[in-house]
Amino acid sequence: MKDLNELLNDVIENEKMIYGVLSNQRKKDNNNFIKVNLKPVLIKGEKKIQFTYEYNSKVMHKNLGKSDSIEELDELLKNYFKQGMFFAIDADYQVLISKKGKVNILKKKPTKEQISLSHNRKKEYIINEGTPCDFLIRLGIMNESGKVYNKKYDKFKQINRFLEIVSDIVPHIKGKETFNIIDFGCGKSYLTFALYYYFVKILKLNVNIIGLDLKSDVIEFCNNVAKDLNYNKLRFIHGDIKDFDDIEKVNMIVTLHACDTATDAALAKAVNWNTDIILSVPCCQHELFKKINSSTMKPMLKHGIIKEKLSSLITDSLRANLLEILGYSTQLLEFIDVEHTPKNILIRSIKSGKIDKSCIDEYKSFKEAWGIKDIYLEKALEDKLKDMDI
Ligand SMILES: C[S@@+](CC[C@H](N)C(=O)[O-])C[C@H]1O[C@@H](n2cnc3c(N)ncnc32)[C@H](O)[C@@H]1O
Repeated sequence: MKDLNELLNDVIENEKMIYGVLSNQRKKDNNNFIKVNLKPVLIKGEKKIQFTYEYNSKVMHKNLGKSDSIEELDELLKNYFKQGMFFAIDADYQVLISKKGKVNILKKKPTKEQISLSHNRKKEYIINEGTPCDFLIRLGIMNESGKVYNKKYDKFKQINRFLEIVSDIVPHIKGKETFNIIDFGCGKSYLTFALYYYFVKILKLNVNIIGLDLKSDVIEFCNNVAKDLNYNKLRFIHGDIKDFDDIEKVNMIVTLHACDTATDAALAKAVNWNTDIILSVPCCQHELFKKINSSTMKPMLKHGIIKEKLSSLITDSLRANLLEILGYSTQLLEFIDVEHTPKNILIRSIKSGKIDKSCIDEYKSFKEAWGIKDIYLEKALEDKLKDMDI
């Protein structure tokens, strides 16, 4: 058959390759890679070839587009390996290259069946690509035929990850006559619309959602979108979290990346209203940066970059601890891979009503260890905490 270039063009350009492996080093060299595995992957909606370079004690990956892959394979086969196996849809190809560079290509019956894009194996999302979804089209995440724009793929994944976390709490909502949700600091409200779509359009639940934000232009935009989409039980209000009292019963509070202590204002509202469910992804955190102190931890506290991360983690630990003290069963989950945002901790709290006294001692000694006297959230919850010796 064909020459090497023709073969590489055929299997790579025409997306025929299921799996490949380059082996049999041309010059034995234990410091260099001894084998390279190849597989097609889908990264942010783009098809690539993943090269896995196997060394003696490590493995390295590279994801390349089609023409770069062909170039890399040509280079690897001509300079590093005597053999390449390409398992394609129509055939298995064995490439043998002699010392003098003579290429021999053997074609055999195919032994592998399907292309598996397993690096980003097509996950079953709650909202799937390919199915047009009204709010995602309106907000510019996908086109009319349901294709997610490449630049919006991270947002698309974030929305689905959020809905996946929300799906776990559905049993707490089902059966309720009505369910009132507030999204504090909703911003442009991708996730608020997603929540509405999931609860009302997919699950057909009787849910009312309010999005609240400080920015009046954003609120106007979101109200227009909700109107265009006929999302009748979704409305947006302009205001500050700490002043918002315009509702009788709130079943669930959402706060996603609300800046600094705006997250705490939202958590305090939720607890003071006896809200059943809290979903909160905190944002930047400045309060404890100035307040933490510990001679033992000095090596961590003297570097601003570490101190900043540390103060965020301490803040979220204290938040979770306070919620537990106040009868919320609380989990901290990874919201989305760190590659997308460093602000990726989601606090999920469900009211259980069981007050765990052991958490009070934990809370007090933890604060003491970090030299912390008071925090915003504690102050905002002082009525609830007054009999708890905190
Ligand atoms: C980083 S954006 C996040 C938007 C959205 N929740 C998301 O995750 O895509 C934070 C939003 O919180 C709003 N915000 C901050 N402090 C607030 C407060 N005290 N009251 C209401 N909104 C607030 C900001 O105006 C901004 O739109």
